[in-house]
Amino acid sequence: MRILLTGGAGFIGSNFVRHLLAHSDDTVTVLDALTYAGNRETLAEFDSDPRFAFVHGDICDRAVVRDAMAGHDAVVHFAAESHVDRSLLDPDVFVRTNCLGTNVMCDVAIDVGVERFVHISTDEVYGSIEEGSFTETDVLAPRSPYSAAKAGSDLIALAYHETHDLPVLVTRSSNQYGPYQFPEKLIPYFVTSLLVGRKVPLYGDGLNVRDWLFVRDNCRGVDLVLREGWFGEIYNIGAGNELTNRVITDRLLAILGKDESCVDYVEDRLGHDRRYSIATEKVAKLGWSPETDFEAGLEETVAFYVDNRDWWEPLTARVKNR
Ligand SMILES: NC(=O)c1ccc[n+]([C@@H]2O[C@H](COP(=O)([O-])OP(=O)(O)OC[C@H]3O[C@@H](n4cnc5c(N)ncnc54)[C@H](O)[C@@H]3O)[C@@H](O)[C@H]2O)c1
Repeated sequence: MRILLTGGAGFIGSNFVRHLLAHSDDTVTVLDALTYAGNRETLAEFDSDPRFAFVHGDICDRAVVRDAMAGHDAVVHFAAESHVDRSLLDPDVFVRTNCLGTNVMCDVAIDVGVERFVHISTDEVYGSIEEGSFTETDVLAPRSPYSAAKAGSDLIALAYHETHDLPVLVTRSSNQYGPYQFPEKLIPYFVTSLLVGRKVPLYGDGLNVRDWLFVRDNCRGVDLVLREGWFGEIYNIGAGNELTNRVITDRLLAILGKDESCVDYVEDRLGHDRRYSIATEKVAKLGWSPETDFEAGLEETVAFYVDNRDWWEPLTARVKNR
């Protein structure tokens, strides 16, 4: 397959490029605007691979998208503004990129005639749940500008399946961790802060719960949906590792040999969702299950940041949310 992958210079997209080049014969073109979250360096190791190409461009620019998408069989659409804290400070760009950008991607995909279009969504579109887990048919109740713009993009993609028969597949994954995550997100922010001797800011009572999914497990899930999923269907992808931010913080302190004096308790995020939880039976029926033990995945992630300061140190100047 010839795959156009948007957002490939970001965290999950770059891991997905690595996954595809290692586990398939596909050719991969990355389309990425290289915003603050995009890092061309992450993809530099693939530049000599004849199956890899990079296009620097904005998914909101129809002409750029048309040129980039022509000649491809499938699209995997990761590109988005992805950080909740930033969406509270600067929401306009979230609506532009996530909603308008996805609309341009879908519209051009019809003209180009792509055979499969995977839209990457998130478990955050369901909102918070006190007990139980959301299934793919539950009503969306996003509660931040980020998740609302993602819900908009998710529904736009599904609408193109209904109205134009675009072969859309939607994945809604839970919180991911792993190598190459921009150091503003919780785990890499905490690890890199501890490595430079800064305190880590823990929101509120620290009891907000997220389901932590190792990024390579997510890549296998997205790949399976791309190849085996049913058009017009939504697939939740989660690991069932429901942990509070407090527990994550304690694990990171322990791995890095730090103590409670490194924690700064800060005022809670506005509208901070308490708990995310998704049911994953549907993607399991396709043949997917998570493989990475949380402790092993977390230790590999911490080791990545310990061993690759050259990769993340230049990025810390771009972190502005906390
Ligand atoms: N990180 C998570 O835990 C998580 C969980 C579930 C779903 N998701 C979704 O997965 C996708 C990727 O997330 P991530 O964490 O890798 O994000 P990221 O912020 O690390 O990367 C986003 C990438 O998109 C690019 N981009 C942004 N705006 C663009 C534009 N207008 N045109 C072209 N490229 C643009 C950036 O340059 C960057 O390379 C997003 O759609 C996100 O909503 C993420």
